[in-house]
Amino acid sequence: MTRTIIQTENMGFTYPDGTSALQNINIEIKEGERVAVIGSNGAGKSTLFAHFNGINKPTSGHIKIHGKPMTYRKEELLQIRQKVGIVFQNPDDQLFAPTVIEDVAFGPMNLGLSEDEVDGRVEEALKLVGMTGLEKKAPHHLSGGQKKRVAIAGILAMRPEIMVLDEPTTGLDPTGVDQIMKILYMLNKEAMSIIIASHDVEMVTQFADKIFVLHDGEIIGQGTTEEIFNDCETLYKAHLRPPKSAELLYMLKNEGFPVNIKLTVDEAYHEILHALGSQSYHNLLHLVKDDLHHKLLHSLGEDKYHELLHLLEENQKDVTSS
Ligand SMILES: Nc1ncnc2c1ncn2[C@@H]1O[C@H](COP(=O)(O)OP(=O)(O)OP(=O)(O)O)[C@@H](O)[C@H]1O
Ligand SMILES: [Mg+2]
Repeated sequence: MTRTIIQTENMGFTYPDGTSALQNINIEIKEGERVAVIGSNGAGKSTLFAHFNGINKPTSGHIKIHGKPMTYRKEELLQIRQKVGIVFQNPDDQLFAPTVIEDVAFGPMNLGLSEDEVDGRVEEALKLVGMTGLEKKAPHHLSGGQKKRVAIAGILAMRPEIMVLDEPTTGLDPTGVDQIMKILYMLNKEAMSIIIASHDVEMVTQFADKIFVLHDGEIIGQGTTEEIFNDCETLYKAHLRPPKSAELLYMLKNEGFPVNIKLTVDEAYHEILHALGSQSYHNLLHLVKDDLHHKLLHSLGEDKYHELLHLLEENQKDVTSS
């Protein structure tokens, strides 16, 4: 049976200044899942993520990691932070060493690994995120997207069981987004559980197998990617926009077209072709009924028109002879 790795029970969190950032959060994340928490600015995504490794402590309810309620004791927190690697939303909150290489090496070094092992991991992590060659640079001299990559490399090098990434693709160019999402996909295939926060709904649909919709500190929707995007109203309520392809199909569906919501452009294309096919068929019947043969001839072309007439005649013969 798949183990539950993170579970919250009626969890709430209020900041010291009185801001109630999370209320009544009940979520369950299982081993090996690819999870996305989606929500607009201020929805509570980063606040929620900071509970996953004990940075935030719930002000009501509980959080359990591997079935055990967190006690927030120092040794336990150290253990949890080895298992749960968090890539912060803002890389400046994460990067602090004088050079890129020292920054990425910091985590694995603290795990007490041999120098060779640390060097190997750092090299591999920097290669994965496409930052080889910039090892000696000062992190604060990097571009925004480069900083993000280094921050991800730092957590990758620790090889956590669960990788939590707050807005992993913000500031990355399209190639960078593809690169990072491919890495996450690959790590997940190697059994790492991945949790991301994002409002880039288009990207999320390509990645997640389970989605939570967070709005004003509450979970207002959860389910598979298909389930979430078949309910565009919940997304609108959360001030999110469905993927363009899903939105288009949703509009067609509301107009009475026989379409299912599809998430990728390719699937949407086939769904629309299919729907157009049946719609054209109905148009055709309408035209034949009204005896507007010249219109048919025009829209089908001569060959197809005669082929169709032939078929109709054959069909007529079948009907009269039976
Ligand atoms: N340190 C803090 N003290 C007080 N309020 C805070 C603090 N950090 C965040 N908040 C508030 O908590 C709420 C949730 O913020 P959070 O950063 O979790 O949202 P988010 O979903 O991550 O948003 P974004 O998409 O902008 O990153 C907001 O209303 C925010 O103003
Ligand atoms: Mg945030």
